[in-house]
Amino acid sequence: MKILNIGRESANEPEPVANEAICAIDVGTTKIVALIAEVDDNDDLRVIGAGRMPAQGLRRGVVVNTKEATAAIGQAVEQAVQSAGQPMRPLLLGISGSHINAMSSKGAVAVGRNGRNITTEDTQRALEQAKSVALPHNREIIHAVPRSYTIDDQKGIQDPVGMFGYRLEVDASIITGASSAVANLVHCVHDNGLEIEDLVLEPLASGLAVLNDDERRLGVALVDVGGGTSDLAIYLENAPWHTVIIDVGGDHFTRDVAMGLRMPYPKAEALIKQFGSALPGHVPADAEVRSGAFGEEGQQVVSRRVLAEILNARAQDVLDLILREVKRSGYDGLLPAGIVLTGGVAQLSGFAEMSRDQLQWPVRVGRPKGVASSVIDLSSPEYATAVGLLLWGKRHEVEPVISPEPLPGVFDRIIKWLRNFVPQ
Ligand SMILES: Nc1ncnc2c1ncn2[C@@H]1O[C@H](COP(=O)(O)OP(=O)(O)OP(=O)(O)O)[C@@H](O)[C@H]1O
Ligand SMILES: [Mg+2]
Repeated sequence: MKILNIGRESANEPEPVANEAICAIDVGTTKIVALIAEVDDNDDLRVIGAGRMPAQGLRRGVVVNTKEATAAIGQAVEQAVQSAGQPMRPLLLGISGSHINAMSSKGAVAVGRNGRNITTEDTQRALEQAKSVALPHNREIIHAVPRSYTIDDQKGIQDPVGMFGYRLEVDASIITGASSAVANLVHCVHDNGLEIEDLVLEPLASGLAVLNDDERRLGVALVDVGGGTSDLAIYLENAPWHTVIIDVGGDHFTRDVAMGLRMPYPKAEALIKQFGSALPGHVPADAEVRSGAFGEEGQQVVSRRVLAEILNARAQDVLDLILREVKRSGYDGLLPAGIVLTGGVAQLSGFAEMSRDQLQWPVRVGRPKGVASSVIDLSSPEYATAVGLLLWGKRHEVEPVISPEPLPGVFDRIIKWLRNFVPQ
């Protein structure tokens, strides 16, 4: 099945028309966000319409009830359309879930007998080649993300357009998803009469919104810990080299607290947000708080230290899973910028600090930037994906290509040197 124009694979498509609205929907496990933005005369993005609804019919990033999910998407879109005073245009749609896989692939094309300037079309042809991998009938390609190019024998080129050569090879990351999961999500959007311009892997969108250029260039792990999943994207040399969706998120924290302290789920979530900490040692042993409970009383006194112990255990679990995936990727010695945590759970008090202490890596909380808004406060890490989708739409590319030079030898040496300081 061909589902619309899935995945804008090349970094080199035409610029969008100025002042045209860019629309995005982040269908998260806990909330659905719809945004309508304008590109102003200074080429800056400004949100003019926003809608946010609690998610329904989703579990761990995938649709499990199309009727509920469709209705929730429709309500978020309606809010956005009303506040913007204009309809949604074809939109950028985030996709996640543990059905997503990434694999490496290479594609090579002849550029010309006499050696000529490489064009955007050549890079697209090379990417098309990289996409010709054998896939089971129940999987589809969502993105082909170029990591680096080789021209003849010259490796590590980030932007080959305009350079000379005979043979162009791309090293790409091919991101695939289960066709059924992709189709279910797409249908929920289509059933609201909306058109999809592009499907975008959520951690790639989040990375655009929260990472800075140095982090992306030197090496960083972006981790978006949402309600249902923890999405990992490893960036090196300005490109996402590796992505993994881990099936654990904030819902697990909430469930642990609800079970451990015997209270209804919404009370547990509210308690975590207001009084939660991942560092029990920082909470006074006698600190207590009144909270909801099951049973006739409906109230109980909770030790904040005990709450922090429950959250610490789950945070530890998430951290172990992240570390395992980073090590499995083979890039663990190549991330001098450490980890940037984003998504709702990044706001858990002490989570970043605990991660920093444990890994001895730099760890910071990533808040979305690059989009202005007077209709909704987008500064929370929860909005990383939604903001990133707008930026994706504006750039019409996978990654900004900053340095057109081939990787200089000195950069390799710095990376090797830095490796000595990063725990293996
Ligand atoms: N201050 C906070 N402390 C701890 N957890 C928080 C805090 N604020 C939000 N959360 C948790 O963050 C999660 C929601 O994060 P987010 O909005 O990024 O998820 P989502 O995008 O809906 O889900 P996903 O990306 O996994 O599909 C919820 O589990 C919520 O309980
Ligand atoms: Mg999310």
